[in-house]
Amino acid sequence: MTGSPKPGDDRKVEVAVSRGASIMKELPLSDVYQLLEPGPVVLLTTQQNARPNVMTMSWHMMVDFAPPLVACVVSSADFSFAALLAEQECVIAIPAVELASTVVRVGNSSGRAVDKFKSLGLTPLPAESVSAPLVGECFANLECRVVDTGMVDKYDIFILEVVKAWIDPAQKQPRTIHHHGYGNFVVDGETIVLDSKMP
Ligand SMILES: Cc1cc2nc3c(=O)[nH]c(=O)nc-3n(C[C@H](O)[C@H](O)[C@H](O)COP(=O)(O)O)c2cc1C
Repeated sequence: MTGSPKPGDDRKVEVAVSRGASIMKELPLSDVYQLLEPGPVVLLTTQQNARPNVMTMSWHMMVDFAPPLVACVVSSADFSFAALLAEQECVIAIPAVELASTVVRVGNSSGRAVDKFKSLGLTPLPAESVSAPLVGECFANLECRVVDTGMVDKYDIFILEVVKAWIDPAQKQPRTIHHHGYGNFVVDGETIVLDSKMP
């Protein structure tokens, strides 16, 4: 029940806080992302001046069903940032766990100096609607166009519309990886099916 504060309420809050403090351990605010990262970890490809590049990305979220809109944080420190801003297109490629160590290497190096497709053994495949390449080793590839840059200056957030989606039927029941920080990943496991009205 809510209502106006009563005498003694302040003390109850104090007791609750001190109990919480004795049970709970304070988490540094800089570690919060490790709890909330949605995953799956994906690769994002771009192409500028006929040069393909690929980066690793885990800070993304769905924004709408159809057309599918995805919000992505692509740091302005990344080489991919300038290509995405200039070309306004990219591919989100979704790797399965078998590709995990390559995904980490992609995310620990920059395309400024090397062609990561070549050096890390990834296969660029032509996309249909965008110049950025698909990644042949990924089980899903989403061709995307930038539709909103309103949050780029402040947050490096791009809103992407998925305009074409591809699935590799040869990769059966792929298990995605989810980033928990500092080289820790959770791998998709058991599927449970519940009665839910949510599409
Ligand atoms: C697991 C993992 C997740 C990452 N997630 C993001 C992300 O969401 N956004 C981002 O800007 N960089 C992210 N990075 C870092 C970029 O992948 C990294 O800076 C990359 O080397 C940039 O490549 P580029 O300079 O060729 O664009 C991530 C790296 C790893 C290993």
